[in-house]
Amino acid sequence: MITVLAPATSANCSIGFDCLGLALDWKSKITFELADENLITGCPDEYCTQDNLVMQAYLTTCQYVKVEPKNVHIDIDSDIPFARGLGSSSQCIVAGILGADALLNLNLSDEQKLDVACQIEGHPDNVAPALFGGLIVCANHADRLLKVKFPASNWKALVVIPNYEVSTQEARKVLPTTLKRSEVIQQVSHAMLFEHAWLCQQEDLLKEVCLDYIHEPYRANLIADYQSIRAIADQYGVPFWISGSGSTMALISQDLTKLNTIQTVIESTNSQLECRVLNVCDTGAEVIYG
Ligand code: HSE
Repeated sequence: MITVLAPATSANCSIGFDCLGLALDWKSKITFELADENLITGCPDEYCTQDNLVMQAYLTTCQYVKVEPKNVHIDIDSDIPFARGLGSSSQCIVAGILGADALLNLNLSDEQKLDVACQIEGHPDNVAPALFGGLIVCANHADRLLKVKFPASNWKALVVIPNYEVSTQEARKVLPTTLKRSEVIQQVSHAMLFEHAWLCQQEDLLKEVCLDYIHEPYRANLIADYQSIRAIADQYGVPFWISGSGSTMALISQDLTKLNTIQTVIESTNSQLECRVLNVCDTGAEVIYG
């Protein structure tokens, strides 16, 4: 039996739309066992079909390396909410790839794993941190994907999860198709400063540079709690962003006490929001044999 532990993720990280993401220490456990026929268990009935994303990623990986897939029993044990911007789809994709790799001895390289994951997901900012951990920036360069991983250091995230979903597909429709040159300059300069602030652990600077022009101003309207949570983040002076395409919002700090205090404040004012303080995870998905 193969077990894959795959982390949740927070993509975009404000200024890194479609190219920056981090891994969070909230893991799903997905097991793979050879079986007489393909079978999915552990999730709601409507997902226990051949269309299941873990199964699809398993089959696509076999296709990618031109290996005949073997029938498999996949069991999914996950409490990461769906369509909330915490990388639940990427976890499934990464688990399917690593499950196929381990169960069928495919010996995929890291580049191949990322390549097949991006082919399925369409962009790397969730799948890359789910595979490799830490904060990862990816860039499409010529015919390959460049990636650089920054350590998790001591950063933590308070994730504030509304009880409503935001569809990534719908949240991409509200984005502008062009930007002004002044906006591009702002975005690039803030993205460069973001990496410096992260690496040098400068929380004040990190807060200042979380100023996005590509997606956050347009998606804020899709999240009813955006303004109130943003105001709390500003009041406590912590970096803030919409996690992925939402609806979750992430408040970032190295100060656990501060994040716990903010969590108490949010929970006392709005019982509809689920809050969790999570470590940024330095390691990506883990494969356990036996
Ligand atoms: N970069 C993606 C987006 C992440 O914001 O649409 C969600 O898959």
